[in-house]
Amino acid sequence: MAANEYARWFRGSTPYISAHRNKTFVILLTSKVLKHVNLTNIIHDLALLHVLGVKIVLVHGAREQIDERLGSNAKKFHNDRRITDADTISSIAEINGGIRTALEALFSTGLPNSPLHNVDIPVISGNFVIAQPIGIVDGIDHLFTGEVRKVEKVRVRSTLDAGGLLLQSPVGFSNSGQAFNLSAENLAAEIAIQIKADKLIVLDDFIVTNKANERVSTFTPTTLEQVKLDHSIQRGHRLAAMSKAVRGGVAKSHLINFEEDGALLAELFTADGIGTQVLERVPQPIRQANAQDVAGIIEVIRPLEERGILVRRERKRLEQEIENFLVAELDGIIVGCCAIYPYDNQGELACVAVHENYRAQPAQTTGGNGVGKRLLVAAEAHAVQNGLSQLFVLTTQTQEWFKEQGFVPKSMETLPESKQNLYNWQRNSAVLIKSIG
Ligand SMILES: CC(C)(COP(=O)(O)OP(=O)(O)OC[C@H]1O[C@@H](n2cnc3c(N)ncnc32)[C@H](O)[C@@H]1OP(=O)(O)O)[C@@H](O)C(=O)NCCC(=O)NCCS
Repeated sequence: MAANEYARWFRGSTPYISAHRNKTFVILLTSKVLKHVNLTNIIHDLALLHVLGVKIVLVHGAREQIDERLGSNAKKFHNDRRITDADTISSIAEINGGIRTALEALFSTGLPNSPLHNVDIPVISGNFVIAQPIGIVDGIDHLFTGEVRKVEKVRVRSTLDAGGLLLQSPVGFSNSGQAFNLSAENLAAEIAIQIKADKLIVLDDFIVTNKANERVSTFTPTTLEQVKLDHSIQRGHRLAAMSKAVRGGVAKSHLINFEEDGALLAELFTADGIGTQVLERVPQPIRQANAQDVAGIIEVIRPLEERGILVRRERKRLEQEIENFLVAELDGIIVGCCAIYPYDNQGELACVAVHENYRAQPAQTTGGNGVGKRLLVAAEAHAVQNGLSQLFVLTTQTQEWFKEQGFVPKSMETLPESKQNLYNWQRNSAVLIKSIG
């Protein structure tokens, strides 16, 4: 990769690095990940997150390993939940011990050629989870299969605040010291809820796709209800745990397919991500701007003003005219804006701009509707709502794009008189108009 490409990519991560710093992520490595060739890469990505200041609780699954080791004897399930008898629970404790050791080892590989060279990650495990038996369900005693009773929040927090990466096996202990086998996804969701984590991230071998097999990037817990039914019980439980976490106050749950190398970083450090997110409310990508957006808008337009593509707008003017602005927001970051100034039944569409790192996103990630096009669609809808029947733009370097959006070149005389009087002959902008509504 050429230096400038690398720099452009790394720069593009800046908003995300700052957005994620000091945030708490509960990350579930489902049992299949532990056997996959990508595991080492994923550990390196987790180490990178840790180094970037993300506080990580890493929960791992063990189903595959338990089934492999204990074979059919332990394969007693009810509604996809293992019935754990006395023999099985002691083996399960041992199997989880082995998994923890293997993961601790991977975080300890600091050899010169390893991405973890000179990186010190204290991996901490322990009795952070109090459990209780599930008991008898549908007439079936689940024996040593348990559920989370309480998470030792203070202990977890102090471990994370001390710089530790917390590694949690799907096992919890009752107040009598009895070990219980826990569902990994429910455990991860419970920990995320109880420690008020910012994200729950599930690494599994699928993401949610629609009938056309296209990735579905965002759900709310309500819209996910329907989808769960289309998946296997086990996958349904994963999705349910992701919803539960969001309903429990976790800002966002992510489902990422571990089979794709780098998927974790792509999900967390790119605009459109690569997985499926669950959040309480799907943010409207384009919305009315408010005073808090002025700084974000300046971030987007200043480089374009310096290149003479946009007319300079001082902060003061932006603050005064903020109600004329619409903004495109992604992950809390202002990635684009435009303004509409009404003139009787015409409206001037101005200051149309998309942040350099979010421009012309390849069609396959946005379905051809880049931020620019989405801003335009929203601007037209907004204009129609306000009784305007035409939009006009004055542009120096973007005529072709506006033409592709249905604008037609027109003479300066078609502009409202007051706008003609303000026309900047030195700038000599082209005038294009579009009838709307
Ligand atoms: C123009 C702009 C708003 C488009 O937004 P975007 O999110 O990048 O673009 P979209 O996804 O909506 O459209 C992408 C297409 O527009 C094309 N495009 C972008 N800028 C263009 C321009 N100045 N002239 C012609 N085509 C342009 C891209 O090449 C891409 O083409 P493709 O679909 O064939 O790949 C954005 O590129 C931008 O902010 N440009 C700088 C500011 C500017 O020129 N604003 C207008 C001032 S009047």
